[in-house]
Amino acid sequence: MAYSDKVLDHYENPRNVGSLDKADPSVGTGMVGAPACGDVMKLQIRVNAEGVIEDAKFKTYGCGSAIASSSLLTEWVKGKTLDEAAAIKNTQIAEELALPPVKIHCSVLAEDAIKAAIADFKQKSGAEEPAKKTA
Ligand code: FES
Repeated sequence: MAYSDKVLDHYENPRNVGSLDKADPSVGTGMVGAPACGDVMKLQIRVNAEGVIEDAKFKTYGCGSAIASSSLLTEWVKGKTLDEAAAIKNTQIAEELALPPVKIHCSVLAEDAIKAAIADFKQKSGAEEPAKKTA
């Protein structure tokens, strides 16, 4: 299967590989796995007082498309608000990287990872509404 040039570029020169301090209250961590293949992605964001993502890092133990998806996503979310970052769809990633149908789940992993990182940050910062209790 031929990877697109953009996938190869991100795979060979991944942006923002690394880790942020999980214990830092301004850091949100998302760790997700793809049941289809067992690949795992960790994505972290650092959020400033204005709710803007200042930094993003990832570590992906997975295929080239998953690495490229997470690399691209960390570039996209920097400078965005949490809501803007949460609105990014895996289809945008798949389109940008020209992923073939069998590799779509790799971009889903990236969407899941940023959503998990945002949820983790919100939970840590207490910004998340407590789950509504149903009587
Ligand atoms: Fe599973 Fe790419 S093959 S994340």
